[in-house]
Amino acid sequence: TRWTHVIGTGGYLPETIRTNEDISATVDTSDSWIYERTGIKSRRIAGPDETASSMAEIAARQAIEAAGIAADDIDMIIVATGTPDRVYPSTACLLQERLGIKQCVGFDIQAACSGSVYGLSIADQYLKTGFAKNVLVVGTEICSRIVDWTDRGTCILFGDGAGAILLTSNDKPGILSTHIHSDGGYEDLLYCPNPQVAAVAKQNEPAYISMRGNEVFKVAVNTLGRIVDETLEANGLQQSDIDWLVPHQANTRIIAATAKKLGMSMDQVILTLENQGNTSSASVLLAFNEGVRDGRIQRGQTVLMEAFGAGFTWGSALIRY
Ligand code: ACO
Repeated sequence: TRWTHVIGTGGYLPETIRTNEDISATVDTSDSWIYERTGIKSRRIAGPDETASSMAEIAARQAIEAAGIAADDIDMIIVATGTPDRVYPSTACLLQERLGIKQCVGFDIQAACSGSVYGLSIADQYLKTGFAKNVLVVGTEICSRIVDWTDRGTCILFGDGAGAILLTSNDKPGILSTHIHSDGGYEDLLYCPNPQVAAVAKQNEPAYISMRGNEVFKVAVNTLGRIVDETLEANGLQQSDIDWLVPHQANTRIIAATAKKLGMSMDQVILTLENQGNTSSASVLLAFNEGVRDGRIQRGQTVLMEAFGAGFTWGSALIRY
């Protein structure tokens, strides 16, 4: 049997910090409201010259360096993003060119905040079957450009950044299982129009994130509870077999509910949202990179990644790191 293994991780956050106080200066909110309801204090904002692919390149180069392989050894690039540089070429193709890779397959996937977990699941299928040797998965987002900065219900939540993971395969257990799902019945609760077609399709609808946060919150908590059960059951594992929870970073209260479901203390959760906000598809890989680089996540440990986002989409990846 072949298993998918993590050989490198990387992350990038833009320089500019936007604090809750900064946002409070322009919309009717406060640092204490934002922090108590979400756990967020500040988020990073991409500079005017940055794009999803430029941020992805920095995160990817870190992952390649950590893995100790040449960029040319990568034969598949999967980029998860809701804020691609262009409609086409895909951000993955633009990243391939930035990395100077000649022979490769590159494509983007769109699963909103679940993008990285979807990417891991797709990569795992190609690696286990031997169709790919080294797969780069990147989540990269410039959420600040699709957020309505006058809408206090959403502008407080999101941030920019990129996370990367490099995967290969060998005969020792690595990714134990992945589980991905979607339900297209919830468009009204969370959507972002496509700026190119929105004007025609929906009478000049502005191309910003629109969310009914409280309703999304409730579905997210229930759904993530179910994905935890599904993942443990599929592997015949107990709650106590999981060393780390690496969740999508949307809201501390959603994350705490999942940790409780797993009987885990918050010390076993990699939390990054306080200073990053919700970086959508980048958040799980950014958090995993942080846990690996600061030494909390050790080789041989079992890590549960999970995410929930627009679609709705949701999923998990259980990894023996
Ligand atoms: N500052 C002050 N007050 C606010 C703010 C704000 N920034 N935002 C909303 N309020 C007010 C509301 O107007 C409301 O006032 P009212 O009671 O007078 O009507 C009150 O606060 C409560 O609003 P709720 O929306 O019920 O607040 P809630 O506790 O649900 O928190 C939040 C809102 C933080 C958005 C939360 O619902 C949440 O995190 N939702 C889930 C988000 C998520 O997981 N999204 C999926 C991933 S994102 C993706 O896929 C792109």
